[in-house]
Amino acid sequence: MSDRYCVFGNPVGHSRSPAIHAAFAAACHQDLVYEAILAPLEGFAACVRAFVATGGRGANVTVPFKQEACRLATRLTQRARLAGAVNTLSFDGGDWLGDNTDGAGLLHDLTHNLGCPIAGMRVLLLGAGGAARGVLGPLLDAAPSRLLIANRSPATAHELAGRMAGVGNLGACTYAQLAGECFDLVINATSASLAGDALPLPDGLFAAGSLAYDMMYGQGQTPFLRLAGSRGATRLADGLGMLVEQAAEAFHLWRGVRPETASVLTVLRDGR
Ligand code: ATR
Repeated sequence: MSDRYCVFGNPVGHSRSPAIHAAFAAACHQDLVYEAILAPLEGFAACVRAFVATGGRGANVTVPFKQEACRLATRLTQRARLAGAVNTLSFDGGDWLGDNTDGAGLLHDLTHNLGCPIAGMRVLLLGAGGAARGVLGPLLDAAPSRLLIANRSPATAHELAGRMAGVGNLGACTYAQLAGECFDLVINATSASLAGDALPLPDGLFAAGSLAYDMMYGQGQTPFLRLAGSRGATRLADGLGMLVEQAAEAFHLWRGVRPETASVLTVLRDGR
């Protein structure tokens, strides 16, 4: 029987992960099945247990269960512990390893696919929720000359910066406090566009040659990328590349082989 994997989420019907992992499995000649499972909002743990009881070997976890998955894992990788969130679970009997491949996926997309070396860059991260927490450690590891978190609620941004204080040097501020600042890379980790809101970003934020990166993706250009383009960002990228790269990291963890991602990304981009 094929090994079973899945993604848990709510909602999960829109997930591209089954298509991505099916493409990886075919390319790497791995015998596995990967499905999307809608977990009830109040029944995530029971859903995971049922999956493991019926032979589940690993799972991806998406909104809104990443923090609950972190509590459910019996063991955490260091990057998952730092993020306080798990997007990848590996099951081996009673051993449930929780990992977080989001940051590695983002960094891989930035450096390998987009040719954006983080070292020495002035980097601004917008947002201080789960998405931001998942990528801060790997971003700091890549040695930017400056890393600043801006958030609507200043207390959340300061709390996050304080939590990461042992890992590297980063600051926190509000959007209004960004006036007069300039960055080479601006990453949107907020969910503002889900509410149809534009972020109140000051003029002059995007340096010449800068890259605006939205961890969100969807049909057409995201509201953040439209805004960034109109404010002088030279290069625009959405989060589809990060999605494929975090999946490749998870696949590597489960199967011991890292799949080639470029062709899968091309198919996803052409198909939307
Ligand atoms: P999660 O932790 O699940 O990712 P979250 O805690 O709601 O979700 O975080 C989402 C991020 O998007 C936060 O940084 C949030 O800002 P606040 O901490 O101020 O709430 C940000 N965000 C969501 N909607 C926003 C909006 N309309 N304008 C600006 N920022 C927004």
